[in-house]
Formats: sequence, C-alpha cells, structure tokens
Amino acid sequence: MKRAYLLAHPAGHSLSPAMHNAAFRYLSLEAHYEAVDVAPENLAEMVQNLRDDDVYGANVTIPHKLAVMPMMDKLSKAAKTIGAVNTIVNQNGELVGHNTDAAGFLQGLEDERVYLRKKVAVLLGAGGAARAIAYALLNSGVAKLWIYNRTTEKAAELVKEFARVGSAAVLKEDELPFIIRQAEILVNTTSVGMERGGVAPDESPLPDGLMPKQGFVCDIIYRPVRTKLLHDAREANLKIQNGLPMLVYQGAEAFRLWTGQEAPAHVMMEAAKHGLQKSEGEKQKEVVKS
Ligand code: ATR
Repeated sequence: MKRAYLLAHPAGHSLSPAMHNAAFRYLSLEAHYEAVDVAPENLAEMVQNLRDDDVYGANVTIPHKLAVMPMMDKLSKAAKTIGAVNTIVNQNGELVGHNTDAAGFLQGLEDERVYLRKKVAVLLGAGGAARAIAYALLNSGVAKLWIYNRTTEKAAELVKEFARVGSAAVLKEDELPFIIRQAEILVNTTSVGMERGGVAPDESPLPDGLMPKQGFVCDIIYRPVRTKLLHDAREANLKIQNGLPMLVYQGAEAFRLWTGQEAPAHVMMEAAKHGLQKSEGEKQKEVVKS
C-alpha cells in the first residue's frame, strides 16, 4: 500500500483526502492519502519519514510551505521562483520540492478558455497564494501585472522579486479605480470574502461599484462557493471562477508527479464538490442545533 500525506496545522476541513482517495480508487491504485496535523516542532521528523519506500510524497499547506524548503534535496524551478513548496515527491529516498499551485491555477483558466497573452491583469493580495499566481500570470505573457495589497510594501517586495519573470508594478490606492476598470483579468488572493465560523461575510476586496469593464474575475476562495466579489462580477456580466478548479488541478498535478499517471481530474472535481456539500450540510446541522 502506497501512502501520500497532507502536512498541515490544523488539518481539519481539507478536501484533499477526498479528492486523492477518489482518484486512487478510480485508477485501482493501492494507495491512501491522509491529512496529518503536524505541529511546527514535528515537521522535520515527519518530512524525514517521507523518504520511506511506501511513500509517494506529500502536499504541504499552511503554515509549512516555506519551512519545508530547506528540508528538500532538490527544488523545481517553480518552487524556487515562487519561494514555496506545496508538493513533495519521494524519488527513491530523495525529496524533491515542487509547487503545483501555478500550474493548477493556469489549468483552471484553460477550462474557461481564458487567454492571458498581452492582457492587463490585476492581482489583489501579496501573500503566499499571490506569489504562485503572479508567477503563473507573468510566465503566461500578460502585458502587465498590477499588484494591489493592503500593505503596499508587501506588493512592492513581490514586484521586485518577480521583475525578471515579467512586467509587474505596484497598484496604489489612488490609481485603483482607473486600473481596475481597464483590467481584463482580475484575481483575488486576499482572504476578504472568506467564510469564517460557517458565516459568509458580505465583504469584497474591491470598493463598492468598482469592477472591470470586461473580462474575467477569479476568486481563489471556494468557501463560500460564490463570494461577494464573484457575485458582483456576475452582476456586471463578467466571466467568473471560484477557487475550486485551482484546488483540484494543483492536486491533479501533484497526483501525476507522485504516481506517474495522468490524474482523473473529473473524479477529483466531483469528490471535492461532494466534500464541500457535505461540510455545508454539517454546518446547517450545527445551526439547527444551536
Ligand atoms: P495566503 O497564503 O492564503 O495567500 P497570506 O499569506 O496570509 O495567505 O496572505 C493573505 C493576504 O490577504 C495578504 O495579501 C493580506 O494583506 P496584508 O499583506 O496587508 O496582510 C490580505 N488580507 C487579509 N485580510 C485582509 C483585509 N481585511 N483587507 C485587505 N487585505 C487583507
């Protein structure tokens, strides 16, 4: 029996076990994926265990994406440039750190036939997820990537680091209305709009009434399924996508790296949607009980 893990802290509520176990079953692979709650002080030992023969590798998420980097024997180009590892592959006892978030994001856009070449793109946020998406957008030949963040210095840092990948610039508050209106691709990576304690907030990272005039709006949040930003974008007749495709495709890419087989992405998508519905149902029950 082969094994793959999710290293997280805390580990609850992840859709990854459902996705990967459904894919293993679909391809009749004798393998199991398990989310493990790893406290920072136990990370090195857990990573060391990934070298065992029966381990494919692991996914890595908050708060370990940076901490595992020096524990790798090798890093992929994407992991190195993005500066974070979300997938570890055990190659005969050698650990290779990858980042499949950028590829996952791009595959989601391909599904919607969103083309990036020569487009004006705006990225909201400058945290971990923003780094992978900035890398993806700049590598795909956008004409210009504007990065807007509550803390401007962090946007400036990102722009500086990614200067050799493509043309990026800090978007300042006073330029926000003008640039947002002409954006053709807008991606939210901030946590504004994310569900907390089962409650979807009525908050958008954009000021009221401000939307691109045309194009595509993506929110990498998938709880709730439709954030206020996506709701507003839909009202403005824009094409929208939530964070589920990126989640599924980053997982599919990790699956391919581990098993050497093409991942059944449709099976993983169904399992992720089912998992989301299940957690919705559990929340409803909690509400009834309280
Ligand atoms: P992730 O790994 O999901 O990207 P992160 O690295 O903690 O998470 O980044 C969170 C992002 O959401 C940051 O860009 C953060 O802005 P700051 O750099 O100013 O902290 C943004 N963010 C979080 N809460 C926010 C809020 N209330 N308003 C605006 N931006 C917010």
